[in-house]
Amino acid sequence: MKLLVTGGAGFIGSAVVRLAMRRGHEVVNLDALTYAACLENVAEVSDNPRYAFEHADIRDRLALDRIFETHQPDAVMHLAAESHVDRSIDGPGDFIETNITGTYNMLEASRSYWTSRGRFSEFHFNRRSLRFTGRNGHVYRGHAL
Ligand SMILES: NC(=O)c1ccc[n+]([C@@H]2O[C@H](COP(=O)([O-])OP(=O)(O)OC[C@H]3O[C@@H](n4cnc5c(N)ncnc54)[C@H](O)[C@@H]3O)[C@@H](O)[C@H]2O)c1
Repeated sequence: MKLLVTGGAGFIGSAVVRLAMRRGHEVVNLDALTYAACLENVAEVSDNPRYAFEHADIRDRLALDRIFETHQPDAVMHLAAESHVDRSIDGPGDFIETNITGTYNMLEASRSYWTSRGRFSEFHFNRRSLRFTGRNGHVYRGHAL
């Protein structure tokens, strides 16, 4: 399977990229390389012919359409986000543009890609919620699209 992973240079995305590669999938890693990115986390797969990196921003719809057209993925894991909540107090604009508009762009680009191939019935949207307990016993909750 060919996976398009957004935010694949981030904390969770890079782990997804490494795991998917280990399991024999093809992976396209789409990331804008913000302050939160660390390409070293995917260094072990960067030379693999099953891996491609696209330096792109999910706020750029035209870039997304090009990437879908070029790589023709079978599935998308959308993990690109402004995730450092403390930063939203000083600069909420980036959060709105990436997490809301960027996610909308990803959904629209995905829908357009699958619809244009007459495969709209294969377009499924899953949202995952995460819950885990920290060492201090505190329960954390989060969401990933
Ligand atoms: N880390 C956690 O424990 C946790 C827990 C629950 C949910 N989540 C969710 O999982 C997702 C990923 O979290 P993370 O911890 O890996 O985040 P992260 O901040 O480590 O990584 C985010 C990645 O997205 C990229 N990015 C940011 N804006 C972008 C844009 N406009 N276009 C393209 N790429 C962009 C960054 O460069 C970075 O590589 C987020 O939605 C987060 O809320 C994370």
